[in-house]
Amino acid sequence: KPQGVLSGKRIVITAGPTYEPLDPVRFVGNRSSGKQGYAIAAACRNEGAEVTLISGPVHLSPPPGCEVVQVRTAREMLEASEKALPADVFIACAAVADYRPAFETTHKVKKERGGLTAIDLVENPDILATVSQMEEGRPQLVIGFAAETDDVIGHAETKRARKKCDWIIANDVSPGTDVMGGDRNTVTIITGKGDEALPEMPKDRLGAYLAQRIARKLSAG
Ligand code: PMT
Repeated sequence: KPQGVLSGKRIVITAGPTYEPLDPVRFVGNRSSGKQGYAIAAACRNEGAEVTLISGPVHLSPPPGCEVVQVRTAREMLEASEKALPADVFIACAAVADYRPAFETTHKVKKERGGLTAIDLVENPDILATVSQMEEGRPQLVIGFAAETDDVIGHAETKRARKKCDWIIANDVSPGTDVMGGDRNTVTIITGKGDEALPEMPKDRLGAYLAQRIARKLSAG
């Protein structure tokens, strides 16, 4: 078991997309690869933390030494997150679908029977907001990500306030950035006590940086 600045700490991380089923062969999803969340999980583990990684459907090998819980939908991800707590830190890196199809048919939707020209959607539970607002056993540090395409910092600040997490990590995912799915990321860490804009770096370097930054925060109380 590795020893490091996070030894003795328990960390729960969500990663990847969610797939929201429409019928037995179709789903509503997104382009998240899980790379950033997996990189954070591996880095926290390398620093000695006990890590549970709750992962949507991705094509990545599980990070060594982490407990991995595989889920598909937002509702499954919420249930797995609640089951994995209590923890010292919760990190919501998953790109959770905000909405899911209101009806999941057990038969494949057929074009010749009128087919599919519109999808009714209903709102999914918000995992980050739920964990941030737990009345009992709230993790000491709750960290969200904010994937934005315009007014990145402004929208991220608003999300931090609305969801009531401690930190939010603002990500510019505009077309051309290749952050979703790619190997590099450019973020600003918003802590409520100042913003820290980091240069572009590989996702595993950002994972290692965050592990150190989290350890510093936990020891400062
Ligand atoms: O997976 P990669 O390809 O490596 O890409 C990484 C990433 C771009 C997906 C990641 O760095 C990132 O930004 N993740 C958050 C993506 C997202 O869905 O952001 P959001 O702004 O829609 O959501 C804000 C926060 O609320 C996120 O922490 C999200 O996990 C959380 N959330 C959102 C909706 C919901 N129903 N439940 C949630 O917990």
